[in-house]
Amino acid sequence: MKNGFLFFFGLFFALALSWAGLVLGTNAQLGDLSPHYDDLEGKSFPERANGIAARGGLVYKDLGCASCHTQQVRRADYGADQARGWGDRQSVARDYVYQNPPMLGTSRTGPDLANYGSRAEAAGKSLAEVLADLYNGSEGMPAYRFLFETRKIVGEPSAKALAGVAPAGYELVPTERAETLAAYLLSLKQTYAFAEAAPYEADDSKEGANE
Ligand code: HEC
Repeated sequence: MKNGFLFFFGLFFALALSWAGLVLGTNAQLGDLSPHYDDLEGKSFPERANGIAARGGLVYKDLGCASCHTQQVRRADYGADQARGWGDRQSVARDYVYQNPPMLGTSRTGPDLANYGSRAEAAGKSLAEVLADLYNGSEGMPAYRFLFETRKIVGEPSAKALAGVAPAGYELVPTERAETLAAYLLSLKQTYAFAEAAPYEADDSKEGANE
C-alpha cells in the first residue's frame, strides 16, 4: 500500500478525536460535578445515603432490579414520567454524584423508582409493607422469596417477622439483604430543587421578537 502510513495515521486520528470528544469532553463537563450546598438548610444535596441504604444499593445492583426499573425522570415535555407521578422535576446529573454506578436502568417493565422513597412516604408505607411487597411480588414484579427465611420460633417471636405468612410455630423473617434493600428503596428521593433541574423558561420580554 502506497500511503499506508497516512491511512493508519488518519484512522488513528479519527478514532482518537471521537474518543476525546466522547470521553474527555464529557468528563470535562460533568467529571467534577459537586453536591450543591444549601445555605438555608445548612447541608448539601443530594444527600449521601446512610450506611444501611448504601448496602441495600449493592443488593439492588446484585439482583438486577435495574433490568426492569429505571431511576431517571424525564422532563415534562419529553414523556409522561411526571404525569405518572414518578417525580415533580426531571433528573439531572447532580442527582447521581454519590452513586457508583448510577442505577439508571435499562428498561421500564416496572415503574421508575427515582422517587420511590417519597411516594412511599406520602402513602404512609412502612418498612414492613415494603418488605411484604418484595416477598409477595405482584403482576409483573417477581416475588423475592429467597430474601426471607422461615424459621422455627424459639422463645420470643421476632419483632421483624412478616405478619401471617408462616405456619404455626414458625415465623418468616427478612434476611439482612431484604432489610437493607427495603431501606435503600425508601431512601430513593430526587426532590431537592437544583437550579439546573428547573424547566427552561422562555424570556417573555423578547416574546414576539422572532415572530
Ligand atoms: C421482571 C421485571 C422486574 C424485576 C426484575 C423487578 N421488578 Fe419491581 N416491578 C415490576 C413491575 C411490572 C412492577 C409493577 C407491579 C404492579 O404495578 O403491580 C414492579 C413494582 C415494583 C415496586 C413498586 C413501585 C411503585 O411505585 O409502587 C418496587 C418498589 C419494586 N418493583 C422494586 C423492585 C426491586 C427492589 C427489584 C429487584 C430486587 C425489582 N423490583 C425487580 C417489574 C420488575
